[in-house]
Amino acid sequence: MNLELVDPSSAEEYEDPLDLMDEIDRLKVEKDATILAHYYVDGEIQDVADFNGDSLKLARDATKVSTSTIVFCGVHFMAESAKILNPEKKVLLPDMLAGCSLAESCPADRLAAHQAKLRAEGHDFETVAYINTTAAVKSLSDWIVTSGNAREIIDRVPADKEILFVPDQHLGRYLAEVSGRELMLWPGSCMVHEIFSVQDLLRAKRNNPGSEVIAHPECPKTILDESDFIGGTEKMRRHVMETTEPTTFLVATESAMIHPLTKSAPQHTYIPVPGLMESTGETCACNRCPHMARNTLQKLRDCLKNGQPEIVWQPYFEKAREVLTRSLLQ
Ligand code: 13P
Ligand code: SF4
Repeated sequence: MNLELVDPSSAEEYEDPLDLMDEIDRLKVEKDATILAHYYVDGEIQDVADFNGDSLKLARDATKVSTSTIVFCGVHFMAESAKILNPEKKVLLPDMLAGCSLAESCPADRLAAHQAKLRAEGHDFETVAYINTTAAVKSLSDWIVTSGNAREIIDRVPADKEILFVPDQHLGRYLAEVSGRELMLWPGSCMVHEIFSVQDLLRAKRNNPGSEVIAHPECPKTILDESDFIGGTEKMRRHVMETTEPTTFLVATESAMIHPLTKSAPQHTYIPVPGLMESTGETCACNRCPHMARNTLQKLRDCLKNGQPEIVWQPYFEKAREVLTRSLLQ
């Protein structure tokens, strides 16, 4: 997958970021809105947001919002989850095309067919879905996990049940290893975490003696095997905050993550692990999620101003709400 081909913000005319940030601050009050931003969106957007976090923290933060409108700077499944957990609120996403390669890899009709096939073969299982899925997939699932609570949720699945884990094969394999449970895996993966180059990681380790590798569990096993700390984005942030000795961290996740790490623990040095371009075989600094990068200050301002694009309630959100509430809020 060539991430360099995607440049979603190139068509925008330049506007001064500081002016945009002031305008966003004014509009927030005028429109009674709260801004939530994932750690993978641009630092300027994180700075103007009321809440920053990983998927789990933001889903929980969304339920604490007192304004009538939530603007979710992240990707579609995140804004959709915020709407599902807050049906009475207006939930906006600055760009409706901000998708996710993991969510796309697991369409609801294919999952339903696979579940039916497994049942016909005599499997007695529960379906555990990563939050990076559509609401339609969530409504077909028994549990929802994020990288922040996956281990605890796996432990809640009755021991006499098999587990079908969708859609991230790498997170699933890692969870099987740490939980000791056997998981039936869906063959999905994240386009950003999939491309890290183990050769470049090894070179970066050699060039930075004493450094520590921190990696997201969406990374393939080859990267996780070379890592000192494995955790979702919030766990990574907490880990660097708890490390008092100034350290060089080699960071194997989306590169916007360097912003909250630097803000939270400025005593350290952070180096993003490079990726390997599948098309050319060359190393690149292309570990930006093109979907997250669709969020820009201009689109955030426009969406506050116009009250759209909006996530519209769908009938199947009701079932997804039950599963999300049981998994993330109880
Ligand atoms: P977390 O924020 O839960 O670590 O997940 C990373 C991710 O890929 C979000 O799309
Ligand atoms: Fe999806 Fe990967 Fe982007 Fe996260 S980083 S939104 S998992 S494509």
